[in-house]
Amino acid sequence: MSVASAAAAASAAPAPEPSPEQSFARRLPKIELHAHLTGSISRECLHDIWQSIQGRDSAVNLQDPLVAIPSDKVDYDLDTFFPLFSSYIYKLCSDLPSIEYSTKAVLQDFQSDGVVYLELRTTPRAIPDRGITKDDYVKAVLNIFNAWNRDNTNTLRAYLILSVDRRNTVAQAEEVVDLCIKYSSTGVVGIDLCGDPAKGDVRIFTGSFARAKAAGLKMTLHFAEADISASDAELETLLSWKPDRLGHVIHVKDEYCKVIKRENIGVELCLSCNVHARMITGTYSDHHFGMWRLTNVPVALSTDDVGVFCSPLSNEYALAAEHFNLSRAEIRKLCTGVVDSIFTGNDEKDRLRRIYSQWDGWAA
Ligand code: IMP
Ligand code: ZN
Repeated sequence: MSVASAAAAASAAPAPEPSPEQSFARRLPKIELHAHLTGSISRECLHDIWQSIQGRDSAVNLQDPLVAIPSDKVDYDLDTFFPLFSSYIYKLCSDLPSIEYSTKAVLQDFQSDGVVYLELRTTPRAIPDRGITKDDYVKAVLNIFNAWNRDNTNTLRAYLILSVDRRNTVAQAEEVVDLCIKYSSTGVVGIDLCGDPAKGDVRIFTGSFARAKAAGLKMTLHFAEADISASDAELETLLSWKPDRLGHVIHVKDEYCKVIKRENIGVELCLSCNVHARMITGTYSDHHFGMWRLTNVPVALSTDDVGVFCSPLSNEYALAAEHFNLSRAEIRKLCTGVVDSIFTGNDEKDRLRRIYSQWDGWAA
């Protein structure tokens, strides 16, 4: 099984002619800051893994991903989205070869879409049946990232964020913090809080996130993703952790918007995901990107789960340009603004600023 075979399968269907805005967005060097590793695995890659399991492990009785997740289905909502992982994709990617293969394919897919800098997040996952610990999982993903970054022919640089799931216990969150600290010199740059917004009480994680911050890790949090996770108590708790960035930022009253602006917290906004999953009322032109782009805070257009919602980052830029009438100068300002909120240091910031200042496609 090779990454090339996944790409070949992906390119088998005839692609519609791209619009000028899509071609521009594809060529544009892009920064992706909010993407989940397992949610970024393409259906073709999952299909490859499924095929290889058929040969290797006849006990695994799972439907072909191309049947289980039909190619035109993107209308997953908060009720159907999370079970897709727990009852299907995690069962499919349940050994180290599948995890390594899919991680490599995800990096390749982002690079092919013109992404030059990626902070990918994942929830450390133990697979006891296979003797895989959370530490093994993180090590396997990081090995792929580091080999990728060492290869000078790659134009994308990738770094890892580890996620605490809202359903975690305090002990499990502490384990994530331990892994973040252990691997902070070899590619882990931050910690995230993710998972089903209907689950959990975030207050129990206050000590764990404080420990991560004290250890020098950057912090991003899924924030007000759904009504149910947007109570004053929850948002005040999350803001009290002093996050560096916030994801989604949907059901946020004015007083919290003011805090985000005052503290210049970067926002990671996911247009297609929010529209397809009906997390916002209305459609693209109603998205709160329209409000945030006019503020001082860095706005990172992001994909969230390109494997599920099938909208690569270039398409997110094309959609933003189309629905908010962005000029090339406005897109340039948006892109260069994102550089300020990346979690790595000045080397990467300098590299990205250089890429944007030297890029000859702005006028095209
Ligand atoms: P993983 O962490 O690499 O396994 O990526 C998949 C996981 O990311 C899912 O099981 C969810 O817990 C989390 N995730 C993906 N998208 C979202 C989102 O939009 N909100 C909250 N959690 C998410
Ligand atoms: Zn997310």
